[in-house]
Amino acid sequence: PTFPLYSTAEKAIPLLGFGTAEYPFGASIHTLKETILEAIKLGYRHFDTAAIYLSEQPLGEAISDALRLGLIKSRDELFITSKLWCSDAHHDFVLPALKKTLQNLKLEYLNLFLIHWPLSLKPAKYEFPFQEEDIVPFDPKSKLETILSTAKIPPAVNQVEMNPLWQQKKLRKFCEEKGILVEAYSPLGAKGTAWGTNRVMECDVLKEIAQAKGKSLAQVCLRWAHEQGVCALVKSFNKERMKQNLDIFDWKLTADESHKISQLPQCKGFPGAVFLSDDGPYKSVEELWDGEI
Ligand code: A2P
Repeated sequence: PTFPLYSTAEKAIPLLGFGTAEYPFGASIHTLKETILEAIKLGYRHFDTAAIYLSEQPLGEAISDALRLGLIKSRDELFITSKLWCSDAHHDFVLPALKKTLQNLKLEYLNLFLIHWPLSLKPAKYEFPFQEEDIVPFDPKSKLETILSTAKIPPAVNQVEMNPLWQQKKLRKFCEEKGILVEAYSPLGAKGTAWGTNRVMECDVLKEIAQAKGKSLAQVCLRWAHEQGVCALVKSFNKERMKQNLDIFDWKLTADESHKISQLPQCKGFPGAVFLSDDGPYKSVEELWDGEI
């Protein structure tokens, strides 16, 4: 299933995407290319990368291979997203960063270019993790309402952490009203990463629902996200699980199952304390998330 973004009329966005943010960044660049090629073979057509993930190059190589092998006839069959890293979030750095991203991907265009985080880092501070003193002070805060009040071209997509344990109900309602598609990152809770936890995969209510349906817990999470009308970005390096994650479109959660999920206690996996600093735009996690924490 796809969703017609108003800003990319020529290409609707596939509502299940393949994430490429492995952790630690760049840990297995060579297997990443093979994994992405496998994903294209299995039918994934939407890939999410970012300059900071170091996965643009392997994604570009996988796309070249897929074209050479005839797995896809043209690059236009894919929906490719990348992101502007915070140290390039400065007026004169945006275009060069986009050009570098295209060069890494060996592509002529992106379908979607996202602002990675709503803050700037000192130029050239590209390494991760960054230090508190690298955060550039600015005012006002570049949040969605501020952007919408000034932007000539409103944002088409807002990518945020979202899974059954961090459901983003308020933000989703706001985005729906404004015609902004929400993308869910960490739809399975991103266990084993610096920005994730095991809580989703170990949630008893989700385990019970999965067992009763004869589906995996991951499938329940992805189906739930799909039924909320968002685009889920999932990642697996395992072929069977990659396949399983695509198999969520011909069955449904019951009203009772959806209700149980809607009642789950909420707990954000990645509060983003790394983005706070005394003289930066955000001094507390409450400020960073506009009180929604
Ligand atoms: P693996 O690569 O071993 O499959 P998220 O998408 O929330 O970031 O979560 C990604 C994590 O979830 C990865 O560690 C991945 O591990 C794991 N994962 C992905 N799909 C499944 C699945 N169907 N069942 C169990 N774990 C999964």
